[in-house]
Order: sequence, then structure tokens, then C-alpha cells
Amino acid sequence: MVKDLADPSRPTGQASGSPLMPRHVAMIMDGNGRWAKAHGLPRLEGHRRGLDALRKTVRAVLARNIPFLTVYSFSSENWRRPQDEVAELMGLLRHFIRQDVKELASQNVKIRIIGNRDGLPSDIVALLQEAEATTASNTSLTLTVAFNYGARDEIVRAARKLAADVLSGALALDGIDEEVFSHALDTSAIPDPDVIIRTSGELRLSNFLMWQAAYSELVFSPLCWPDFDDHALDEALLDYGRRQRRFGGLDAVGAQPS
Ligand code: FPP
Repeated sequence: MVKDLADPSRPTGQASGSPLMPRHVAMIMDGNGRWAKAHGLPRLEGHRRGLDALRKTVRAVLARNIPFLTVYSFSSENWRRPQDEVAELMGLLRHFIRQDVKELASQNVKIRIIGNRDGLPSDIVALLQEAEATTASNTSLTLTVAFNYGARDEIVRAARKLAADVLSGALALDGIDEEVFSHALDTSAIPDPDVIIRTSGELRLSNFLMWQAAYSELVFSPLCWPDFDDHALDEALLDYGRRQRRFGGLDAVGAQPS
């Protein structure tokens, strides 16, 4: 594992084409509510504009040949919000899947959904399954939507899965290592994010990809998510490109030559 972490061919600063581009960008799309308040609009309008910003970001990421994008769209803690806001976010997911999957599929985008599907309305579960199935063989971009997602919940579910395998005899106890554990997570087969971008000026991970973020670079944008655009993405990517990633070692990996 240590050797693997130090391996420069692992997802690092290396992306398709440019050594400065990340291979996997993850986004905490924060600030919809504050954006709405600042514009004298209801919070729900902030989320709708957030969906527009997500569409624009997917196009921008595709145009930059970045092969993995993961977005945090509903956390397992968001159920604590008022019922109408939860319903709006569920509605936006339905809308996104129904309206956008065809176009995304035509752009060769593969859709993955991570998070806990227990407790989600059954029509949404069916839509998620269909979106994943119809785009499964696409290769230009893997767009992972974290919905009803919490990293602690994901880790607990992975631990339960592995414990069940040990109890059934399918897995030896000492067969559990970091690689096996990673494969038991929802993000199995998705490389760890090289960079996590959080908008709205908040400086925390909020239970997002906590296992996978072990060596991710963190970039914080002061913009509220609905205002995030191509220019802000390029600024974040530039910031990432200046980082020296060492993965616990001494030599920078995938960094800009000085
Ligand atoms: C955080 O802003 C954002 C969310 C909880 C939801 C993110 C959802 C979208 C960007 C659009 C929907 C997309 C899909 C695919 C469902 P906040 O409400 O916490 O903002 P605040 O901190 O300013 O109140």
C-alpha cells in the first residue's frame, strides 16, 4: 500500500493531457441558501440555480478532459432540513436524472450514484438504477452523484459488508487491507479525488469522502455554488496545479517543475 501511494502513476497531478490537471475533481456545492438570501429569493430557488451551476460544471469538466467528477448533492444529514426543502432536493434529483441523462449519455458520460439507497423513495431508486445501467459502458467522464451520502455511513456499511464476508468464510480476517476496504466502499473502482473544491467559503469536509480524501488537495472558493463558473473552476485548477503532492514521502509527485 505504501508503495502504491508513492506510485506516480496513481491518480495525482496526472490527467489526460496535462500534468497539472487533476484526474478526479470532487465538489462540495455549498451556498445555495445564502445565494438565494442575498438575491431576495426563496432557498428553493437557490437549489434550482445550483442545478444550473452543476450542469455548467459538468460541461466545463468534460471540455477539460477530466475523467472523474464527484458532486455532493444531498448528505445523510440533510434530512434534518424543513420538509419542503427535502422535497425540493428530491424533485431536483428526479428532474436531473429524467432531463439530463439522455444528453449526458450522448456525451459518453457514465453516471454513478453513491450513498445509502435505503429510505429513498422507490421511484428515485428505480431512476438511479436506470441512469447507472444505461450509461454503464460510457467512458469520457464518470459523474458520481453523492445522494443521501455520508462518509461515516459509507464506512460503516463497508465494515458490515466485510464482517459478513468474514463470518460466512468468504474472506479471511487478515485478508482485509486498505485495498480490500476501498473496494467495499460505494466509490469502488473510482480513484481517490485529487482535489476537493468547496464553495461558499466554508472550510470543512462535512462528512464527504473522508476515507478517499486522505491525500486530496483542498481548494476553497468564496463564491456561492450558483455563481461557480468556468472561470472559478479554472482558478481552482490553477491552485491545485501549484500544490506539491508528496503522499507522505519527501518528493513532490505530479507537481509543477520549478
Ligand atoms: C448546500 O447549500 C447545497 C445542498 C445541500 C444541495 C446541493 C444541490 C444542488 C447543487 C442542486 C441539486 C442537484 C442535484 C443533482 C439534486 P446550502 O443549502 O447548505 O446553502 P447554505 O449553506 O447557504 O444554506
